[in-house]
Amino acid sequence: MIAGRTDGAGSGRAVRGKFITLEGIDGAGKSSHVAWIAEWLAERGRRVLVTREPGGTPLGEQLRALLLGEPMDLRTETLLVFAARQEHLAKRILPALARGEWVLCDRFTDATFAYQGGGRGLPLAAVEALERWVHEAFQPDLTLYFDLPIAVARERLAAAQAAPDRFEQEGAEFFERVRAAYLARVARDPHRIRIVDATPCLSEVKKQVEDILITFCG
Ligand code: TMP
Repeated sequence: MIAGRTDGAGSGRAVRGKFITLEGIDGAGKSSHVAWIAEWLAERGRRVLVTREPGGTPLGEQLRALLLGEPMDLRTETLLVFAARQEHLAKRILPALARGEWVLCDRFTDATFAYQGGGRGLPLAAVEALERWVHEAFQPDLTLYFDLPIAVARERLAAAQAAPDRFEQEGAEFFERVRAAYLARVARDPHRIRIVDATPCLSEVKKQVEDILITFCG
């Protein structure tokens, strides 16, 4: 068993780790930052679990393949996203945090508010109800939201030349709604969700993220 940092006074209990999520529209480039952030945290003594949504467990990855490839009803889509999330929380995220590990997760429930809520028009009350059921009191400690204009994101996606999935195939209006929903989440919870301007080059974006992490880690 890996030793966790302890909460002092000889209790031996691991201090709960921190839960950090990355968010942004497709093409924002957030996934390019996962590996160096994990390394940055590890260099500072944190044990880090890197994971993603939808996915993160064998079942979750199967659900991801369906979600990204198979046309489906919006409620089905939303329920599958939360089914994958429940599995992820129960099997990986919560146990890792309890062991004192830090969890770095590429997307979480803010993405459901943005994509199923904002993008597809599912009433936010429905997302809130599922959120309450699956993880009411549990929220990320820090969310990095990578923001950029839709036109720039679409150029990047086109340049990547990968076959677009079911979400990436959506039009500019869809992504405008997703971005607006993300920005509404930021306005609601600016302390947790920190905006990163994802427009400049990778090294400049990295600098912004590093500044946020330095403040967060103390
Ligand atoms: P990724 O490309 O960042 O790995 O994310 C896969 C897609 O899944 C992305 O287009 C957004 C979508 N998604 C939702 O629609 N709702 C969600 O709750 C999550 C986590 C992802």
